[in-house]
Amino acid sequence: MKQKYKILPLLILIFAVYKMTGQKTIPEVESLLSKMTLEEKIGQLNLLTPGGGIATGSVVSENVEAKIRAGQVGGLFGVSGPEKVRQAQEIAIKNSRLKIPLLIGSDIIHGYKTTYPIPLGVAASWNMELIENAAKMAAKEATADGINWNFSPMVDISRDARWGRISEGSGEDPYLGSAIATAMVKGYQGDDLSISHTMMATVKHLALYGAVEAGRDYNSVDMSKVKMYNQYLPPYQAAVNAGVGSAMTSFNDIDGIPATGNKWLITDLLRKQWGFKGFVVSDYTSVNEMIAHGSGDLQAVSAQSLNAGLDMDMVGEGFLTTLKKSVQEGKVTEEAITIACRRILTAKYELGLLDDPYRYSDTSRPAKDILTAENRLAARKIATQSFVLLKNENNVLPLQKDAKIALVGPLANDKNNMLGTWAPTGDPQLSIPVLEGLKNVAPKAKISFAKGANITNDTELAKRANVFGLRVDIDTRTPEAMLSEALKNSKHADVIVAVVGEASEFAGEAASRTDISIPQSQKKLINALVDTGKPVVLVLFSGRPLTISEEFNLPVSILQVWNPGVEAGNAIADVLFGDYNPSGKLTASWPRNVGQIPIYHSMKNTGRPAPTHQFEKFKSNYLDSEISPLFPFGYGLSYTSFEYSELAVNKDKFKQGESINVSVRVKNTGDYDGEEVVQLYLKDQVRSITPPVRQLKGFQKIFLKKGASKTVTLTLSADDLKFYNSELKFVAEPGKFKVFVGGNSNAEMSADFELE
Ligand code: BGC
Repeated sequence: MKQKYKILPLLILIFAVYKMTGQKTIPEVESLLSKMTLEEKIGQLNLLTPGGGIATGSVVSENVEAKIRAGQVGGLFGVSGPEKVRQAQEIAIKNSRLKIPLLIGSDIIHGYKTTYPIPLGVAASWNMELIENAAKMAAKEATADGINWNFSPMVDISRDARWGRISEGSGEDPYLGSAIATAMVKGYQGDDLSISHTMMATVKHLALYGAVEAGRDYNSVDMSKVKMYNQYLPPYQAAVNAGVGSAMTSFNDIDGIPATGNKWLITDLLRKQWGFKGFVVSDYTSVNEMIAHGSGDLQAVSAQSLNAGLDMDMVGEGFLTTLKKSVQEGKVTEEAITIACRRILTAKYELGLLDDPYRYSDTSRPAKDILTAENRLAARKIATQSFVLLKNENNVLPLQKDAKIALVGPLANDKNNMLGTWAPTGDPQLSIPVLEGLKNVAPKAKISFAKGANITNDTELAKRANVFGLRVDIDTRTPEAMLSEALKNSKHADVIVAVVGEASEFAGEAASRTDISIPQSQKKLINALVDTGKPVVLVLFSGRPLTISEEFNLPVSILQVWNPGVEAGNAIADVLFGDYNPSGKLTASWPRNVGQIPIYHSMKNTGRPAPTHQFEKFKSNYLDSEISPLFPFGYGLSYTSFEYSELAVNKDKFKQGESINVSVRVKNTGDYDGEEVVQLYLKDQVRSITPPVRQLKGFQKIFLKKGASKTVTLTLSADDLKFYNSELKFVAEPGKFKVFVGGNSNAEMSADFELE
């Protein structure tokens, strides 16, 4: 009887909170909250890093241990290993008054220790099952090492290859981006966050970060709402719909208000319109950076951010040092702090931390779960599927396994640049260089190696790209000496394989470039190799689309491999020798030149559309360049060929609430078994806001044995025809539509239908 009376007030409180805020109310959380002082609540909103990891802002946390003891820390990042995480939790559990465990965060962007390709590469697989499994593997490894919260997926749409962080996302398209966001959240979180091998995901960077002006990192964004809703916001919303546990705000401003202090963004859109129930964390010191944006002093920007709906302050300690004063001065309410604190505690509850703070501190796990042979094999498979065959001159590829190969290039025998940007938890020294991979897969091949050129001879560029460790080593030999060694080796070869492109840190955060071509030092090498008259295969590394018109016009084959991760060399060899037939398709258009940027397939027609390959005065075009990209979205070749026929829709007219089937026959007409990504693009012929010329609305990756064919059916629902109109209502307007189906966004075969 007594017990009943004790919990009754708590139950009443829970009901009242739920009624007032609509927040999730959990007895354990409410019981904690009822005991907390204002200072302790503010403490939970503070995220620190004791250092050791990558510090991207100007502030680094100090006196972390003392702050945990004092109940001034809600979470840490940059700490890993079950023992270290246990130690950190012990400080909180044994020394802080309320014994609240810590969130342990990390940036696991493309694999934990088993690094797989950069996200832009993984996206090129168009394989959602593979992507989900990759995230699952990352979660298993990271949680084995004590981490329970991941700062991924990064779902920022980007149509600007100058922006270095295009490497961290899925490319230019909201439909594909949404599918990938969903797969990643599912992979990281599973069905139950409290299971010890799942971790909480963070959708980032809310919002529009990929549209920074001129591709310059951290720059401003100015965008119409219609464009935002139709083109840039869907992947964030998809992650929310998939149940993502947290969201991270972006560095940029939106409509003149920094995202971190933007109430419309965090409260109206994310929480009210999309129904997000998790918590929102700032980016690294992005609260403090609002001072530089011009929004006020630390107290003002901290209050603005909390009032906007931000729950957790990453590293900057603006919340910790000013919120109490703001409560006293009536600038924020204690209620707002309680609400934010409730969200953080709820996440801890969902992760099972309130139940067992040491859930992720099992010392037996790392040896069992991290960098296992099985995981390395998975990383190799993901990498092979991420590669995009851009050109196969005279069908030189695949190579014979007993060929005489002159392996050349600054990235051919290099461990530093295999993992790619934002792989701080991976170890570059564990990666397989290309030379080693070729030898592993084709032991009978006769392979010579010469570096041939430096990644760049621009020492300033190399220095700037070296911030996260020595990644761009410049050889002390003269360029001539390096080149002549490469040419000498090439003389006796059947084929030259040149491994060229960008160093890892030529892309990534704070790595925007105005020139995205292959560096001069390597261009010289490539031209000299072509002059030998031998067949040349370029294995091209990059964290972004590059401008490679010059190389494309040379008689070379080109395999785009991004940064393939820890199994780089093996995966590249698998594809070069034909053990795996390339199936990757680009998820961002490759411009012919920087002047075409931004460039993307779902552009508008304009009132004066230009013919694709010729110039016409007074049309929407350039005097000095074609308007089409060098490689369109969705493009990628295979060692075999696919023929599309019999495109049909199962009805000419359909109604709201119904769906329509689009079917097509695909035949493998070449000499190899292979996979193809069948893509469906929609054109809305007439609508109340000008439509894109076409938009991706469906895809399916299929496998066909040589000579085999298959009918692929893709279903479009009336919802797939919806868009945000000028009142931001999500509507499908009756009228005529066209579908295009094929192997890339230039697909020509089409069918018509009407929505009544
Ligand atoms: C990046 C985030 C990252 C954070 C923490 C920031 O600079 O923008 O993506 O999660 O640092 O490492």
